[in-house]
Amino acid sequence: MFDKRITTADIRRKKKEGRPVTVLTAYDYPTARLVDEAGIDIVLVGDSLGNVVLGYDSTIPVTMADMLHHTRAVCRGVRRALVVGDMPFLSYNLDRAETLRNAGRFLQEGGAQAVKLEGGREITESVRALVAAGIPVMGHLGLTPQSVHQLGGYRVQGRDADTARRLLEDAVLLEEAGVFTIVLECVPIQLAERITAAAGVPTIGIGAGPHCDGQVLVTHDLLGLYGDFKPRFVKRYAELHKEITRALREYREEVETGRFPTAEYGFNSPEEEKP
Ligand code: KIV
Repeated sequence: MFDKRITTADIRRKKKEGRPVTVLTAYDYPTARLVDEAGIDIVLVGDSLGNVVLGYDSTIPVTMADMLHHTRAVCRGVRRALVVGDMPFLSYNLDRAETLRNAGRFLQEGGAQAVKLEGGREITESVRALVAAGIPVMGHLGLTPQSVHQLGGYRVQGRDADTARRLLEDAVLLEEAGVFTIVLECVPIQLAERITAAAGVPTIGIGAGPHCDGQVLVTHDLLGLYGDFKPRFVKRYAELHKEITRALREYREEVETGRFPTAEYGFNSPEEEKP
């Protein structure tokens, strides 16, 4: 069924044809397989890895080594979707050569087909250099978690006229620099609609309302794997923390009370197997 790999051209075409782009995160082989088998267009190996899987309280501690390790695992599980590797904090901000080398590692060692960078006008020269080197780039505007300390927390961006105009300009500048999509994270619905209308490349919203060209969520959030974490923009399609907790407790109780394993879960000696 899933024989042809989705390309950046397919993603761009979806905007022209008015077909929504679907994006989910994955950080490991089993999740990558599930997301790919569900027919999702883009699997993002997000640096949300830091919060979701590594237990950090931000994405800032995530390293190139962490990202490459998880990108390789994801790529082993994906056959059809386009895989995008998220460039971690400071891996694209120091100098051009290091940016190119780091981005190239996502493709050459990680197996991804594209990279994602956070930021607007300040990264357009890097985007140009990557695209010129044959590395497709996904942009990311609005709430950019790597700048959480500069932004003063995880809050909606572009609420006043100046920051809204700046985000709109940044989207146009990123498109001119050559990105094939732009993630819009936590911006007002109306601003996301304006940016989507102005941009020739698909916008992918997260907490940006219904008018974007596509949507992305953190897979662990939509599956309800963390019972105590539910941002306003996340719809839970399952409550896996409840189901997993139930199963784990049931296992513990059955082992403690001797109900597991019964003989049916064991192997008989050869004499017992004879008719
Ligand atoms: O790291 C990530 O998962 C992301 C998405 C939330 C867009 O950047």
